[in-house]
Amino acid sequence: MLERFEEMGFDLSRFVPALLRPPSQAFRINTLKGDREQVLESLAHLEPEPCGWNSLVFRVKKRLKLGNLTEHFLGLIYAQDSSSTIPVTVLDPQPHEEILDMSAAPGSKSTQIAAAMRNTGLLVANDVSPKRIPSLTGNLDRSGVLNTVVTRLPGQAYGYIATERFDRVLLDAPCSSEGTLSRSFRTLEIWGESAIKRLSATQRNLIMSAYYSLKPGGVMVYSTCTFAPEENEGTVSYLLKKFSEAIVEPINLEGLNTQPGFSRWRGEEFNPAVKNILRLFPHQHDGEGFCVARISKPN
Ligand SMILES: C[S@@+](CC[C@H](N)C(=O)[O-])C[C@H]1O[C@@H](n2cnc3c(N)ncnc32)[C@H](O)[C@@H]1O
Repeated sequence: MLERFEEMGFDLSRFVPALLRPPSQAFRINTLKGDREQVLESLAHLEPEPCGWNSLVFRVKKRLKLGNLTEHFLGLIYAQDSSSTIPVTVLDPQPHEEILDMSAAPGSKSTQIAAAMRNTGLLVANDVSPKRIPSLTGNLDRSGVLNTVVTRLPGQAYGYIATERFDRVLLDAPCSSEGTLSRSFRTLEIWGESAIKRLSATQRNLIMSAYYSLKPGGVMVYSTCTFAPEENEGTVSYLLKKFSEAIVEPINLEGLNTQPGFSRWRGEEFNPAVKNILRLFPHQHDGEGFCVARISKPN
């Protein structure tokens, strides 16, 4: 892993300690259950600091388990790493739309989407894993989500069963999770070149399905919590090879120290449009490592 990080051009003496140090905890106010100002008042003792890119997301420097707070239990807040709130911020869901969250469990992003939709329209929250569905439904219930249907299908199916159906699609893809090492070393149990290869094959099928399921004029977000270029620029480049009309849009969010997508990796030149991918690295940003692409389908 370290060799790969070096190959990606990271200065390991800065990158590795930052990757292993837990970032500040963060929470998102759930406007389906609470009023922003009232929630902030009840959590004032935590001295929450606003994150520039989303007025509902706050970092907390104090060390305590946000998931144990009464406000979390009541669904007034959702404890979520600050980076993990970015894909839905970039997706920008609107009320009355039809939206697919293709790999949704345990529901951090589905609950954020439903709140942005103000519980209107239709959200389909899908995940293939039977073991992870209860955490998804539990979080939807706790957050007061009412506009959502939960399905348990391989995301690959949606391109066929719901072709050109959705206004927006989120594909927060299964990935090698290198960006979350400070939270858990479990990643290391599955991590390796062959896992990256296998995951990138799955991601390619999922991103094709996501694009097929998008209406003309629709927008999708592809995100991962890993650094591997095969799983990020490689996946998006693959989509662009199949659908040259797809547009990778620039992302402008306030208060974020980001890097552009890699232009090449191990002899492969990526489509130049992948420079618009947003990369977040733990030595530059107080949050987990993340990668986010906003892709639109022309009319
Ligand atoms: C990064 S996690 C999603 C996290 C979730 N979006 C959230 O924010 O709470 C990736 C998810 O993809 C699911 N998954 C893996 N392969 C899948 C497939 N072929 N179709 C749909 N979901 C899949 C996994 O079960 C896992 O829950």
